[in-house]
Amino acid sequence: MKNMARDTNSGKVNGHEISKQGTTSHSERQLVLVGDDEQAIREPIVQYLTDVGYDVVEASNGQEALKLLTSPEDQRPDIALLDIRMPEPDGTQILQRMRDQGIETPVIMITNLKSSSTTIKVSELGAVDYIPKPVEFEYLTSAIEKALSYEALKRGEGPVLAVLPKIDPSERIVGSDLAMIEIFKTIGLVARKPETVLVTGETGTGKELLAEAIHTNSRRTGPFVKVNCVGIAETLIEDALFGHEKGAYTNALTMRKGMFELANKGTIFLDEIGSMTPNLQVKLLRVLQEREFYRVGGTEPIKVDVRVVAATDANLAEDMPSGRFLQQLYHRLNVVRLHLSPLRERMDDVPELVSHFLDKHRASPVSPPARITQEAMDKLLSYDWPGNVRELESCIQQAIVYCRGNIITVDQIVFSKELRHHVVNVEKKVRARTPLDELLRDIKREAIQVALRLTHNDIAKAATQLGLTDEQLRDDLAELHLRSEAEPVASHSYSHL
Ligand SMILES: Nc1ncnc2c1ncn2[C@@H]1O[C@H](COP(=O)(O)OP(=O)(O)OP(=O)(O)O)[C@@H](O)[C@H]1O
Ligand SMILES: [Mg+2]
Repeated sequence: MKNMARDTNSGKVNGHEISKQGTTSHSERQLVLVGDDEQAIREPIVQYLTDVGYDVVEASNGQEALKLLTSPEDQRPDIALLDIRMPEPDGTQILQRMRDQGIETPVIMITNLKSSSTTIKVSELGAVDYIPKPVEFEYLTSAIEKALSYEALKRGEGPVLAVLPKIDPSERIVGSDLAMIEIFKTIGLVARKPETVLVTGETGTGKELLAEAIHTNSRRTGPFVKVNCVGIAETLIEDALFGHEKGAYTNALTMRKGMFELANKGTIFLDEIGSMTPNLQVKLLRVLQEREFYRVGGTEPIKVDVRVVAATDANLAEDMPSGRFLQQLYHRLNVVRLHLSPLRERMDDVPELVSHFLDKHRASPVSPPARITQEAMDKLLSYDWPGNVRELESCIQQAIVYCRGNIITVDQIVFSKELRHHVVNVEKKVRARTPLDELLRDIKREAIQVALRLTHNDIAKAATQLGLTDEQLRDDLAELHLRSEAEPVASHSYSHL
């Protein structure tokens, strides 16, 4: 197809009057406006877009671009690429004026301006994408296609929307998998009883949520007090749990109540119980047996009426033979056991959870929840969710932020495995006593994966990115058994502003 773009002032393409009347079908050629004052940048873009099959109209300054974008609807371009820096009006001003007039034509900004305030401004005004110069043509077409498909979605064309199960928005825990129903039943049975509950499950499966549900349904009048047993020095946690008497240490100027006392008539939630030191385990065992304890430096036992819910993602039973977890304490805690299975083993819950999170994270209390395409839902159903429900929730939260027209498409579904950002949780690994060289290997693996993703698996570019030679990178890949993972990873939608 020849370049048709020329006489823009008169709203003409290649000398012909522009008319888009009747062009509702998605398959029709789309008219793209390229507005840039630098001919050397504009022309190659126009040429490229024409070659790949778009109708193109050019504007060499802001006035021309604005005129075209505010022309009668049947003559307007379907999408605009605008340079931010042009003689006035510049790209941002054009976008502002379009929005003022209620013109929703999607706009992609092109710029070599690296200014955060401009980026924020155009993002607020609803530019659909932001492309740095020099413009990568492949990226450009994918950005245009994405933007046009959102428009089609808004018109009710394009991908099918998923039909989501109806959920009660007031419910805090959702799930209809049989295992979850058993858990709800058990909560019903035990919530009002005093028995200690041990909640187990991988990270992000909902242990804390369940502990709260037990408390809420217990009708106990006292508070729900959370204690995270990880990462607090033994003396501090003892002080936090049991409090201290005045003068217990040099700087203990007054008596202070601990969590057990504060939780009186309520529930204490001991999170990550597996990481409690043996010494503290002994003290906790005493509280569970006697229902009383001593403040640090105290001689009088304090009696409390506290319901204990403990949680762990470790297998405490495995830690018992080594003495890392006290057998007696285990049996005391394990009176009622609630095990939350990993999300990958209850995938039937995914649509319900999605529905719940779309509702929970709506943009404002009055805005309707975002909708999701069937294709996006299928992608959610094809993943193994190593971070369980928490990962699903943050995936949906991100998708809501990045989606356009309140519809989540497959492009916005990005998994942490793909993203590989901050996958190595250094703090957690150190706490788990991971040897330093193993930890460094994990970080190295992650850095290489990120470099490969950023360079679309181009070994030479990834090596440059990491300051390695190609050969060194290949050696590292082999050493870290990364070959199988060095497959092309679908580009994701963080190209949005
Ligand atoms: N069944 C569920 N219904 C609704 N939301 C859920 C459900 N399960 C988990 N969530 C949500 O997922 C997130 C993680 O849950 P939670 O903090 O309870 O997990 P956890 O098992 O305590 O994780 P960790 O072991 O990492 O502390 C929370 O925002 C929680 O509200
Ligand atoms: Mg937790």
